[in-house]
Amino acid sequence: MQKIIAANFKANHTQTSTKKYLQELDNRLLNMPLSKNSHRVYVFPQVANLCANDFTSLKIGTQNAYPAYNGAFTGEITLEALEEFGITTILIGHSERRNILNETQAFCAEKFAFFAQKGFEIIYCVGEDLSVRQKGGQKEDLEALKDFIQTQFEGIDTGYEKLIIAYEPIWAIGTGITATIEQIRQTHQAIKSIAPAPLLYGGSVNAENSSQILSLKEVDGVLVGRASLDVESFYQIIQNSYKENK
Ligand code: 13P
Repeated sequence: MQKIIAANFKANHTQTSTKKYLQELDNRLLNMPLSKNSHRVYVFPQVANLCANDFTSLKIGTQNAYPAYNGAFTGEITLEALEEFGITTILIGHSERRNILNETQAFCAEKFAFFAQKGFEIIYCVGEDLSVRQKGGQKEDLEALKDFIQTQFEGIDTGYEKLIIAYEPIWAIGTGITATIEQIRQTHQAIKSIAPAPLLYGGSVNAENSSQILSLKEVDGVLVGRASLDVESFYQIIQNSYKENK
């Protein structure tokens, strides 16, 4: 099955380094001795470094956008600007936007409805913090975890045909701690019972651990932060996805 490999640059890289990275990655992918259909690659640069979505082997998406065509939304990016770049992919619901920028579930749902109506491909992120994960003590309470994740789907059309979900446990993001294979398997099974969309795992994925994670049948791809910043390391993760795919 085709794996989805996505790079979330967050607030890293400059316009110059992003351009260089994208050209290099596109070239490497073009020269990769693989079947074209073995994987789908996305890169989400920071908004100031967005560029025309006209690469051959990868798609550019936006980490964020305001749900409007244009208007008085200081500091935001809107559909009009994305259209000029030919960008039709967006991340919604990332825990950093929910927690640092206080985006509510209602606002995530509003964004989702707006961009779904515009036909965007949406990578919708969900994930719990440690207090939810540890509620059951030593023995994790999967039902409670599932109930929590369910709240992050409030107002979301889980049957949307261009929906991709990313499960990113907050305690594993940028910490170097990855969820165990069993935790990923169980949580992915639970999320797949809520929504039938392709499901990515994110949280300290790197070139060393990605093969094992991608080998799970419940994992349709990965969303990578820190380890995507270096083109060699991200390319390695893409290659690993191919190995798992054979
Ligand atoms: P890290 O890979 O740096 O843990 O980030 C994961 C993430 O938040 C991707 O969206």
